Amino acid sequence: MRKKGFVFGLVLVLLFALSACNSKESSGGEKEKSGTDSKKSEKKVEIFSWWTGAGEEDGLKALIALFQDKHPDIQIENAAVAGGAGTNAKAVLASRMQGNDPPSTFQVHGGAELNEGWVAAGKMEPLNDLYEKEGWNDKFPKSLIEMVSKDGNIYSVPVNIHRGNVLWYNKHVFDENGLKAPTTFEEFFAVADKLKAKGITPLALGDKEPWTAVQIYENILLAELGTEAYGKLWTGDLSFKDEKVVKATETFKKMLSYINDDHASRNWQDASQLVAKGEAAMNIMGDWAKGYFVNDLKLAVNKDFGYITTPGTAGKFMVITDTFGLPKGIKNVEETKQFLSVLGSVEGQDAFNPLKGSIPARVDANVSKYDQYGKDTIEDFKTAELSPSLAHGSAAPEGFLTKANQAVNIFVSQKDVKQLTDSLAQAAEELK
Ligand code: GAL
Repeated sequence: MRKKGFVFGLVLVLLFALSACNSKESSGGEKEKSGTDSKKSEKKVEIFSWWTGAGEEDGLKALIALFQDKHPDIQIENAAVAGGAGTNAKAVLASRMQGNDPPSTFQVHGGAELNEGWVAAGKMEPLNDLYEKEGWNDKFPKSLIEMVSKDGNIYSVPVNIHRGNVLWYNKHVFDENGLKAPTTFEEFFAVADKLKAKGITPLALGDKEPWTAVQIYENILLAELGTEAYGKLWTGDLSFKDEKVVKATETFKKMLSYINDDHASRNWQDASQLVAKGEAAMNIMGDWAKGYFVNDLKLAVNKDFGYITTPGTAGKFMVITDTFGLPKGIKNVEETKQFLSVLGSVEGQDAFNPLKGSIPARVDANVSKYDQYGKDTIEDFKTAELSPSLAHGSAAPEGFLTKANQAVNIFVSQKDVKQLTDSLAQAAEELK
C-alpha cells in the first residue's frame, strides 16, 4: 500500500514536471522570453492537448500557424502532454482543473468525456453566443452539435471527426500474397491464417497503452451487435453479459491469437510501423494512423497502404471528435474565443484535418484539400450509422473507461471471456 502511494506520488510529480516543461514551449518551439514583449505576453492562449510528436502534432502546428498569421499580437502556448488517447494528459488536466489552474482551452472528446465530465462538474462556459456570432449552428452536423451539448447549451467546438473503425493494411504484402482486404471476420481469419503460414504477423497491436486493445474490442462489439444494440450498452439497456457480447468477446480472443508477441512494449505508432515495414500485414486503428503513415513515414495512400472498414462495420462509423471549449475562470477569455473562432472556421479545419488524418467537422469544408482516404471518409460520414467510441471517451464516463482499460488489458494476457464480460457488467452496474 505504502509503496503504491509512493509510486503514484512519483508519477504525479513526473506528470507535473512534464506539463510544466511542455507548457513553457511557445508555438515557434522557442522557450518563452520573459519581459521581452510584455504586451504580447499579456495576450496569451494556452492550448492543452496530447498532440505531441510523430503522427500527432502536425495538424495542431498548422492550426497554430494560421492563428498566428491572423493574430500576431496573441501569444500561443502549446501545452501538449505526450501519450496516445490522452493517457497522461487527462491526469495532468484533472489536477490542473482541481487546482483551479485551467488552461485557456483543452482537447476534450465530444460525448460523455465533455458532458458527463467537465460540464456536469460545472467547469465549462456555454458557447451558444459564439455559435450564434459565427453562424455555426447549421455548419456542423446536428449529430455532432448534440455530442457537445448538454441541457440545451453548447460547450465546445469540434475541430475534426476521426473514424475509429478502420483496418489498415500493407498493400505490398497483400498484393504479393494475392490477398483481398477482409470485409467479414470469416475473411479476416482466412487471410490471417495465410499470412501466418508465410511467417508474417497478421495483426499489429501496440497495447503498452491499453486503449488500443479497447479500440479493437469496441470495433468488434459494433460489428457483432450492430449500431442499435451497441448503443444500448451505454444507456444500460443491454448487459455486457448478453450472449452477443460474449460472442464478440470470443471473436476478440481469436483475433488476439494473430498479434505480434511484443505488443505490450509498443505504442500505437510502433505497431503501425510494423505494418509500414511489412513485418505485420494489418492494424486496426483510428485514422490518425493515416496522418502518421503519410506525414511521418512518407507512405502513399492506396499505393503503400490500403484501408477498409473493420470487418462487419461497412456503413457504420465509430465517431471520435476532438473538441475545444472554454473553461470557467480563465484569464484570456476574448483571446481564447478568437482561437476557437479560427479553429471552427473552414480555413482552420482545412489547415488541421488534411494533416491529422481526420475529416473536417464542418459540412462546408473544401473537399479538394483532402486525399482519397479523406474524400471517401467525408462521403461515408454523410450516410453512415454513427456510434460513439468508448476508447476515446464519447460512449461512457471516464470512470467506466478506466475500468474497461484495466479489464481489457488483463484479458489480452489471460483471455478469460467470462472474466472480461463480468468485469464490464459490474463496472456498468456501478455507474447506475
Ligand atoms: C484520440 C484523439 C486523436 C488522436 C488519438 C491518438 O483520443 O481523439 O486525435 O490523438 O487519440 O492519440
